[in-house]
Amino acid sequence: MPVFSALGRRARPPTIARLMSLALDNPRLLSLAAGFTDNRTLPVAAVQSAVAVLAASPGEPEWLQYGANQGRPRLRELLAARLGAVEPGLDVAAVHRELFVTNGSQQALYLAMQALCDPGDIVLVDRPSYFVFLELLSGLGVEARSLPVDAAGKLDTPALGAQLGAMAASGERARLKAVYLVSYFSNPSGRSLDAAEKNALAATLAAHDAVVPVIEDAAYRELWFDAPHPAPSLLALPAWAKFPRLWLSTLTKPFATGLKAGYGICTDADWLARMLYTKGHHDFGTANFNQAVCEQALAGGAFDAHLAVIRPAYARKMHALHGALAAAGLPARGWRWREPAGGLYLWLEAPPALDTGLDSAFCRACVEAGVLYVPGELCFGDAVPRNFVRLSYGVLAEPDLTEAARRFATVAEKFV
Ligand SMILES: Cc1ncc(COP(=O)(O)O)c(C=O)c1O
Repeated sequence: MPVFSALGRRARPPTIARLMSLALDNPRLLSLAAGFTDNRTLPVAAVQSAVAVLAASPGEPEWLQYGANQGRPRLRELLAARLGAVEPGLDVAAVHRELFVTNGSQQALYLAMQALCDPGDIVLVDRPSYFVFLELLSGLGVEARSLPVDAAGKLDTPALGAQLGAMAASGERARLKAVYLVSYFSNPSGRSLDAAEKNALAATLAAHDAVVPVIEDAAYRELWFDAPHPAPSLLALPAWAKFPRLWLSTLTKPFATGLKAGYGICTDADWLARMLYTKGHHDFGTANFNQAVCEQALAGGAFDAHLAVIRPAYARKMHALHGALAAAGLPARGWRWREPAGGLYLWLEAPPALDTGLDSAFCRACVEAGVLYVPGELCFGDAVPRNFVRLSYGVLAEPDLTEAARRFATVAEKFV
């Protein structure tokens, strides 16, 4: 019997694995749970032609060899230029130096936390937040604490000021190591932060002596429906200049989830170096082949061509799910949600007394009715409400989304 480390003892099965095994055990279950992309629009032809170009290129097949720990230099250049094109003030040469490729942006989140946090430390997270990140924090023994929000879900900076003041008075401020935000078409809320909100957050943190590392997770920034969200990133807003920042994005959601390539841009040289040392311990480099495919797709235009296909496709799927839930009468039964302008999720608020948690009667009834969702309770760092639901329209085809909405609404009707 192994004697486990504190980390090994803290490890818990990820909830997403439990939800996925429920789906596998019950093939007639329609899953609105996992944040997967749609198999029907994955870029098979683009990947095929990228591999053909690589295979036909003269010289040695370096793309089938180990690559650099920080990532392929040309891919890093392309990604830096891509960001520079939407954020005109950015110093692209600096971004190129600060950019590193990871095994999905998920690995960058783990590296960031490993470099910064010890058990007992505190990270401020958005409310609601990305539940896999929250599980990562608890696996490391790190406490997630919500950034206060108002009734419309906007950051409540006066309340944050009071919270930071209380943390300073109690001595907890020393344990505050980072702030984490999903700022474009968030998972789970679909919300984006505007520039004024971002600036007010920087001002509040600075005014309370909390110039701590900040992670801006932009995983869904490119998955807009009608137009990009206009707010600049924290890399470009002057209010954030004195904060150590890690900006994260990914090539999975906008291109191919199976290639599992993500990237980070870290403005603090020391923090970046420590994450790269740790990445060397994890894997000493993200799969070079996968990076080379992404590089080809970006350089040859297939990446943008693919985005032009999936943006309207996900918009249609969002409308299908949203429309079916509305037509089934959920709003009249006290359910509320907003139509997102991008991303992969609808974030539903159930009537306050309805418990939608993983072990609730409602959740069991949904599984019995053949529909699976992510309980919103997983998406909160603290003060966990039980009446939220995350629905993903990423995977199912439109007729299945309509049927899943019908099943969900039938259960909701029984729980009025
Ligand atoms: C907000 C957010 N950040 C990061 C990730 C990690 O994605 P990947 O590792 O595929 O880049 C996800 C995946 O669902 C996500 O929703």
